[in-house]
Amino acid sequence: MKTLLLNAHPDNNNPNSFTFALKEEFLKHYNLMFPENEIDVLNLYDEEIPTLSHTELTGVWKKQENNEILTQSESIIAIQSEKLLKQFKISDHIVIATPLHNFNISSRLKDYIDNILIAKHTFKYTESGESIGLMQNHKCLVLQSSGCVYTDQSSIYANMDFAKQYLETMFKNIMDFDDFNIIRAEGTDFMERSVILEKSKIEIQNYMSKFYQ
Ligand SMILES: Cc1cc2nc3c(=O)[nH]c(=O)nc-3n(C[C@H](O)[C@H](O)[C@H](O)COP(=O)(O)O)c2cc1C
Repeated sequence: MKTLLLNAHPDNNNPNSFTFALKEEFLKHYNLMFPENEIDVLNLYDEEIPTLSHTELTGVWKKQENNEILTQSESIIAIQSEKLLKQFKISDHIVIATPLHNFNISSRLKDYIDNILIAKHTFKYTESGESIGLMQNHKCLVLQSSGCVYTDQSSIYANMDFAKQYLETMFKNIMDFDDFNIIRAEGTDFMERSVILEKSKIEIQNYMSKFYQ
């Protein structure tokens, strides 16, 4: 069993951050359950995460397709991207800690996903053009903080839950993860911190045994 924790907050060591609090709560339970196990942690804002740009990933992929020689900087990008993909594939439990930014996941998390949503590795296309996931026996837990509340169906934000929709679709429908769950600290712009975190912490505690079933 291998767990990979992706810290997708730009200020991931800030103790005032709700995302930080969710992540720490997860780690507390993880360490109690698996005192012998090391967890892999990737702080996305401290790492080189190749981007989908002409000078980075798309440029490298094009050259690789045409069997062209990569420059030194392109080789570094290719190696880093392959490393991220390999680490993702061998981790059967993925935990993502992200704040909501402009109704979506943080931008560095999107960059990361661009490095692991790779055809023939985490999913594949069939001859009829459909996609099939290749990541069975993997599970994903998202820990998300947001200023507003997205789970109240009477709220105007209920149908703007794009981050969850995107991540769930990628992990379950595209990559075929066995399990996807999101635990939120929501309403952080206007609700009391202790009330928000009390609810999230109970959810994390209750979910741990299912996640590691
Ligand atoms: C640049 C930026 C954009 C944000 N956009 C949204 C948003 O679209 N919807 C929302 O509910 N909260 C939004 N927020 C609020 C954060 O999601 C909220 O403050 C959350 O608690 C941040 O996580 P943290 O407490 O770990 O820093 C935004 C915050 C920032 C800094």
